Amino acid sequence: MQTGNCVLNLTRRQFVQGGGAALLGSSALAEGLSALDAPPALSGELTADFSKAATPFNRMLFGQFLEHFQHQVYGGVFDPGSPLANRDGFRLDVIEALRELKVPIVRWPGGCFASAYHWRDGVGHNRQPSFDKAWGVEDPNTFGTDEFVKWCRLIGAEPYICTNAGTGTPEEMSDWVEYCNLKDKGRYARMRQSNASGEPFNVRYWSIGNENYLGGEIGAKTVEEWGPLVRESAKMMRAVDSDLKILAAATVTGNWTPPMLKDAGKYLNYISIHGYWDALWQRGTHPSDYLHCMAFCDAPEQQIRKAVDLLHQTGFGDRIKIAFDEWNLRGWHHPGFPGGGANQVEMIRERDENDRNETYTMADAVFSASFLNACLRQAKYVHMACMAPVVNVRGPLFVHPKGIVKRTTFHVLKMYSDLLQPNVVECQIASDSLKVDQASLQALDALPTCSPDGKQVAIALVNRHPEAAARWRLNLRNVTSRGEGRITILSGDSPDAFNNVSRPERVVPQSAPVKASTEYIEQPAHSVAIVQFQA
Ligand code: AHR
Repeated sequence: MQTGNCVLNLTRRQFVQGGGAALLGSSALAEGLSALDAPPALSGELTADFSKAATPFNRMLFGQFLEHFQHQVYGGVFDPGSPLANRDGFRLDVIEALRELKVPIVRWPGGCFASAYHWRDGVGHNRQPSFDKAWGVEDPNTFGTDEFVKWCRLIGAEPYICTNAGTGTPEEMSDWVEYCNLKDKGRYARMRQSNASGEPFNVRYWSIGNENYLGGEIGAKTVEEWGPLVRESAKMMRAVDSDLKILAAATVTGNWTPPMLKDAGKYLNYISIHGYWDALWQRGTHPSDYLHCMAFCDAPEQQIRKAVDLLHQTGFGDRIKIAFDEWNLRGWHHPGFPGGGANQVEMIRERDENDRNETYTMADAVFSASFLNACLRQAKYVHMACMAPVVNVRGPLFVHPKGIVKRTTFHVLKMYSDLLQPNVVECQIASDSLKVDQASLQALDALPTCSPDGKQVAIALVNRHPEAAARWRLNLRNVTSRGEGRITILSGDSPDAFNNVSRPERVVPQSAPVKASTEYIEQPAHSVAIVQFQA
């Protein structure tokens, strides 16, 4: 195996002289590569045996979440009257971008909003606005079940509905299933026929409740109440459509989930868990800096491992899967809420903080890649993950009246969705560590994938270090011959680089050919890379 400096196998000087920069054409990567002249400070080794059985992953790991909160629905995906919207009021530029992401599934209408949402308010021809008890604002109810399902079909995603287990009832949940999935039996199917479509919507994914274990949730439940409620809700929903994929709100801490699984596990397909690591909900909180965001990178996998243990301990380890159906590095900023009261006008206005594009940096990109690696490594158990939310607030897409901005996380999601192969290969990673205050974590992370026939290989590489470039040694066993390859890198010109309306392409992926026999890969600081080659 020829050793040598892999990316382009050129030094920076040769690269720039040889027009490499022109090839890649971006100063960002040239910047990132400039560090490569200096010997990379970090080293890592990836060992993977491609003869071993690989685990197919579920593409629903690239799912999204849409809540009636701030400008996600109204002024986000749905903007009747906007010159950028179609006659149904759906922003076409948003649809196009989400098609580019190949979003496989979208969870809606919430989140906390769901725990006081009555679906019938959002269907029919004479809809009245409702007061949203979770977020203290009025919801015009112009975007309801019909619009959500139609929008999902337009972006090519499965609709996933979160029911109201706060102020709602099992009957109301099963009526909603009737409305969506029964062809013509009963009044709700007929209601759908007269409102929207003769054909059933065929909504497969339904979750019972949202975080009903949290005291702040509207209609929060006790452990004793939760199991029986989930059981009776699932029974009644399956009485309408026995093929549903049913999830229930769960946690990996405390004694909330085991009793629920004891009562209702036999009716469930998934447990739904959530994670936000940079706690920004309350007043006076500010986004953590790059380095402190890196300190969160190991937390998602620890949470997943706890969920896997919990499922095994309760006897559902081989049947019930995990849906991480709300995740984001950053918690949403909504001081005093949910349930804070319509009179908290000042507090409600503070939510605009969520729209500051400079908040969404390479920290969000590198953390999100680390999160996806954690789910992919546990692909046997984690079958769904929904980034929260899909647009605006902390989403990969910022939507404004004149267009959209693809934030750094958009590019990570697209790289993973487009470039990874469908099977995850087990691997060992040896890496220098990254110190954050008293804590330390691996500075580097990797996730190898291959095609079912083993002929195509794609390896995701993450360098969490804010300044130091890394040299990876690829120890790939049972990869007979390696054809020409390609590396795609997202690094930005600094750890705090971001995209916004005035500079929407400051941080974009760059790709370049990779020599077949390269044993080493150089990776810039604060970056996400995917190396692809024929095996
Ligand atoms: O901050 C947004 C909220 O976070 C979602 O509505 C809820 O599900 C989660 O706690």
